[in-house]
Amino acid sequence: MGQAMKIAIVDDEKDMRQSISQWLALSGFDTETFGSAEDALKALGPEFPGVVVSDIKMPGMDGMQFLKRLMSVDSALPVIMITGHGDVPMAVEAMRVGAYDFLEKPFNPDKMTELAKKAANNRRLTLDNRALRRELSDGTGLMKKLIGSSPQMERLREDILDLGQADGHILIDGETGTGKTLVAHSLHAVGPNPSRAFVIHSCAGVEEDVLAQRLFGPLDEGGRLPLIEEARGGTLVLEDVDALSHTLQGRLLTWIDEQGSPPETRIIAISNLQEQGKSCEDVLRPDLYYRLASMKLTLPPLRTRGEDILTLFSRFAEGFADEYGCEAPDVSAQEAAQLLQAPWPGNIRQLINIAERAVLQSRRGTGTIASLLMTDAQEIAPTMTTEGKPLKEYVEAFERMLIDNTMRRHRGAIVQVMDELCLPRRTLNEKMAKYGLQRADYL
Ligand SMILES: Nc1ncnc2c1ncn2[C@@H]1O[C@H](COP(=O)(O)OP(=O)(O)OP(=O)(O)O)[C@@H](O)[C@H]1O
Ligand SMILES: [Mg+2]
Repeated sequence: MGQAMKIAIVDDEKDMRQSISQWLALSGFDTETFGSAEDALKALGPEFPGVVVSDIKMPGMDGMQFLKRLMSVDSALPVIMITGHGDVPMAVEAMRVGAYDFLEKPFNPDKMTELAKKAANNRRLTLDNRALRRELSDGTGLMKKLIGSSPQMERLREDILDLGQADGHILIDGETGTGKTLVAHSLHAVGPNPSRAFVIHSCAGVEEDVLAQRLFGPLDEGGRLPLIEEARGGTLVLEDVDALSHTLQGRLLTWIDEQGSPPETRIIAISNLQEQGKSCEDVLRPDLYYRLASMKLTLPPLRTRGEDILTLFSRFAEGFADEYGCEAPDVSAQEAAQLLQAPWPGNIRQLINIAERAVLQSRRGTGTIASLLMTDAQEIAPTMTTEGKPLKEYVEAFERMLIDNTMRRHRGAIVQVMDELCLPRRTLNEKMAKYGLQRADYL
């Protein structure tokens, strides 16, 4: 059971609370007893790492009022109520208010243990989940890998937290390299069962019967479990879902329907049809499409993410510079404009690649970012134009990047940054506020 979960036992009858406590302690729980709801309330906070077992009939605050108070402190706290024999209406009311379950007196101690274990498990998942969610929204963990502060990225983060926590299937569409696979990982990580299986498989370029067997079984010669079994209870990511044949789509549909709702195994279907100007809606059977696309995420192409392009470039360049033990190249205003204007058909993957080559180039002291962009795609305008975007946007994005890089290099030492950029303190402060840059992030 890992670290022992706590059980708070609340009963005005001493014998009763002690016998429950002894019994549950034998099953490995860390028990604590309270003679009244009032006493218990003082000890139970919103992050209580365990389960509450409470009698309903008690002098002073009764079990029902106690339950209501607990629910307002933490509505996900599992509370097991003990009701008098035949007290069905009371039990029903307790469940309505949010009790986890109830036990009728006299109860079988094994049943109590079993219920407590289930409730403790449920509690552990809730707390893990909250911790993960906090961690992710704090910017550590997987979500930290998602760089960018453009409105599109902010919305994507929110969507990931929301959809990840919901329990339906999800469809992700977006051009190649926009982060679909990374987002699928993040969705699983913020979801209700991050410790369960995460299985990822591509439906493209495989013969139909081979794919059918891999997905649905029976076991292949290697004795590998079919993917739907391997992923059971967790997440099954189907990359290139649009490559599924009509027959396999039908089998997938049947399997989805057999699971009922909420599904035991969540499917995250991925396609990049958008890139070809098509939609999964045009290619998948409508019945399957609607089951998968009940929640849909479309990842924005890099070229529409504005200043994120420069942020991503700087971050990745710094990362590679660290790796290769050299300095990250300085990005001139002209190069920044070129990065902002490039069409980025390979999106973030392409940008990572260019950042790496730019670092290697600057280590050798040759070449420009422009030439890298040029060799990557001929269609990039060789001269700087402001077509499509107002000049102001480029200037601001560049300014933001310069301040960000300089702050980073000087680890937030304001005076050095002021000197280097020839900016008075007030102007620097104003600009940092304008671009959402905080000194604390650089220290
Ligand atoms: N917002 C982001 N911040 C930082 N890195 C990112 C971001 N989005 C994607 N990446 C990185 O970009 C690369 C490409 O992302 P990913 O593989 O998820 O794209 P994809 O859409 O699945 O591509 P494909 O269609 O080719 O499968 C990965 O290295 C990923 O970690
Ligand atoms: Mg991918």
